[in-house]
Amino acid sequence: MLNEKVSGLLNEQINKEFYSAYLYLDISNYYYNEGLDGFGNWFRVQAQEERDHAMLFLQYMQNNGVKITLNQIQGPDIEYTSHKLPLDEALKHEQYITASINDIYEEALKIRDYRTTQFLDWFVKEQGEEEKNSEDLIKKYELFGTDAKSLYMLNSELATRVYAAPSLILD
Ligand code: FEO
Repeated sequence: MLNEKVSGLLNEQINKEFYSAYLYLDISNYYYNEGLDGFGNWFRVQAQEERDHAMLFLQYMQNNGVKITLNQIQGPDIEYTSHKLPLDEALKHEQYITASINDIYEEALKIRDYRTTQFLDWFVKEQGEEEKNSEDLIKKYELFGTDAKSLYMLNSELATRVYAAPSLILD
C-alpha cells in the first residue's frame, strides 16, 4: 500500500497528464486550422504520448491497490495569437510537469518509498527529453519559421512524426 500523500500526488498526476493531452490536442487543432498540418500532426502524436503517461500513472496506482479518483479535466483556455506562441506554451507546460514529477519524487524519497521512485525514474528521464524536444522546436521555428519556403519544409518534416508506444511497460 502506498502512503496517502504520495498516492494523492500520483492521482493528481493522472489528471495533469490528461490535461497535457488536452492542451496538445488544442494546439494540434490550432495548427490544422492554420493549414500547418505537419505541426498539427506533431502535437497530435504528443497528445497520444500524454494519454499514455496518464495511463501509466493509473496502472501503477492500480498495481499497488490504491483507489483512483478521476477528476474533471479542464479545457485549455489559451488564445494562440501567433504560430510561435503554442511552442512557448508547450515548453512552459513541460517545465511545469517536470516540477510536478520532481515533487512526487521528493515526497516518495522522504518516506523511503523506493518502489515509487523507481517507477518515477522513467518519467524523470522522459521529462528531460520532452523539454529538449520543445526547446528544439522553438529553435527550429526561430531559424526557419519566418520564411515561407523554410516554414513549408519544417512543416513537412514535422508531418513525418509517428506515434510509438512508451518504452515503460508495467506488469
Ligand atoms: Fe507527460 Fe509531456 O509530460
